[in-house]
Amino acid sequence: MIREWIRLDQVDSTNRYALERPKDGLLVTAGSQTKGKGSRGRSWYSPAGNLYMTLCLKDINPLHTIITGISVYDALITLVPGHEIIIKWPNDLLLNKKKVCGILCQSRSGFSAIGIGLNINQAFWPEELRETATSIYQETGQKHPALPVMYDILDAIKKWIEIYNNEGFAPVRKAFFTRSLIFGTEVMLEGKKRCRVMDIDMDGHLIVVLEGKTISLAGEKIFIVPQNTGAL
Ligand code: BTN
Repeated sequence: MIREWIRLDQVDSTNRYALERPKDGLLVTAGSQTKGKGSRGRSWYSPAGNLYMTLCLKDINPLHTIITGISVYDALITLVPGHEIIIKWPNDLLLNKKKVCGILCQSRSGFSAIGIGLNINQAFWPEELRETATSIYQETGQKHPALPVMYDILDAIKKWIEIYNNEGFAPVRKAFFTRSLIFGTEVMLEGKKRCRVMDIDMDGHLIVVLEGKTISLAGEKIFIVPQNTGAL
């Protein structure tokens, strides 16, 4: 899957860098980012010690975010035994209910850039992230070099893309629901409206029932509602 690997000590954003020179199988990694991009125009805090990578693929698939989430989950699960990881649709992974990974899929000129930021060895956060972000190190006390984790993520992405190509959407849908734990549960939308999760579709949209109507969410933020105790 990887045809060229550009390793940078520091860059503004690995997604921006990859999309300037898109190529099938291009991998861009950086030790840190000065203008890491998050979803919905936000920034991604990117000091040294974590994983910042972008994989460029020829194929644009609306399911890339879902497939990548499943893949990061599979790579992480062996590193955090006894801890809870869930995929929070559409692009977050939560470790013990705090955000440990963000995925940003972008496209340009027929190529997609799958960006992954994974907090591995982060020990301190700026005030505004302290309540919501975490790292593998903070949750487990174990430090890890980023590259072996990245190789596991890449192996898993390759595996899940092959599964999708050979067997279609059904196994991806099933894998997403077993790793996200939100099938059939209530989630909250911005504005505090509650809805019930029914499915995901082949575009990666979340199908929910809101006030008796079935609607599809394309990328809206959802809040997981843990057992009537409030929203996460
Ligand atoms: C999110 O907001 O959850 C998505 C964050 C994605 C961050 C990664 S870090 C590597 C890649 N380069 C970027 O500029 N962003 C993504």
